[in-house]
Amino acid sequence: MAGGNRNPPVVAVGTASYHETVAAMAACSAHRTSYALEGRDRTATGDSLEFAHSVARGLDDSPRWLDCRYLYDAAGSHIFERICEQPEYYLTRTEGAILAAVGLDIALRTGSITLIELGSGSSIKTGLLLDAYCELYGNACYTPVDISSSILEHAREELAASLPDVQVAPLNSTYDGAFPIFREHSPAMLLFLGSTLGNLNEAESLDFWERVAANLSSGDYCLLGLDINEDAATIDAAYNDAAGWSEAFTRNLFARMNRELGSAIATDAIQHVAAFNRECSRVEIYARFQRAQSIYIEPFDRVFELEAGEQILTEISCKFRLEEMVPYLADFDFITEQIYTDSDKRFAVLLLERR
Ligand SMILES: C[S@@+](CC[C@H](N)C(=O)[O-])C[C@H]1O[C@@H](n2cnc3c(N)ncnc32)[C@H](O)[C@@H]1O
Repeated sequence: MAGGNRNPPVVAVGTASYHETVAAMAACSAHRTSYALEGRDRTATGDSLEFAHSVARGLDDSPRWLDCRYLYDAAGSHIFERICEQPEYYLTRTEGAILAAVGLDIALRTGSITLIELGSGSSIKTGLLLDAYCELYGNACYTPVDISSSILEHAREELAASLPDVQVAPLNSTYDGAFPIFREHSPAMLLFLGSTLGNLNEAESLDFWERVAANLSSGDYCLLGLDINEDAATIDAAYNDAAGWSEAFTRNLFARMNRELGSAIATDAIQHVAAFNRECSRVEIYARFQRAQSIYIEPFDRVFELEAGEQILTEISCKFRLEEMVPYLADFDFITEQIYTDSDKRFAVLLLERR
């Protein structure tokens, strides 16, 4: 047990700047160009064989599951960006508002350091933070890391146009593939935003933090975005948007299996089922098959039979309690220096320092 500060300062971001930031972010994403959706995304996880192995492992299991990283091919990344824009999806705009309000404070505390972001996606919110680093230090170095090559390239192009003082060195990789670069970039701050930590189960999270702690150097920082919302109604709405992008995201995983694994799944038979499980403090997202299906995995010449009504777990999204997370992170030698939240206490951004 490493101990550490149990009561770090909590800063609630005021609501006035919140609305301004929402407008700024909307303007920012409105002028962004769309990117090519044709063709396959290089997933950085190897070829389709690795995808096929993962799918077969999940479908052989009981209950059945699929690895959520495969949600993000070019089409999936595009759909995820649309989810982030939906009025129900409070996570993105709340975290963006916090970063816009406290970016300078964070940049002042860390000094001029390299920013490395895991699962960076579009990097739109990170742009708000990079802007603060440029304002204070004249420039910034940024390495976005993402499994999806299409969203990474899109982010690089957008940042080159909007923040020319930022030196961007993208890395198309899994989280695992990025750990070795931490040390060479120190002094650095690792960003893990969007509550993406919530997609990891308990064992994956332990493994993740062990590796992050082992690869960051003493004095490096970590900026962690966490969904701390406890209101089941707003949580359920966020994962079941009225426009249907959440359902499209779930269905695309199976459309991807059709494209890359020759699976021949009737995607219109898939119902997106997402609900907050309060006991486990997480949203569980399933694909429910309204008709019986035979899922073919061409590389292995295998068929998996699904009954009508059967569900496959495609994603979890854990919600966090700060009073549990601060000591949890301290066990991995991270001191929580500051906690920034919105006034409704739906989202928190934690500035951590590696001892
Ligand atoms: C929930 S999205 C968050 C995106 C962005 N950080 C945000 O806050 O909006 C997760 C991102 O992580 C990427 N990703 C998922 N699993 C990954 C993995 N194992 N290694 C690297 N990137 C991954 C996805 O491609 C996606 O861009």
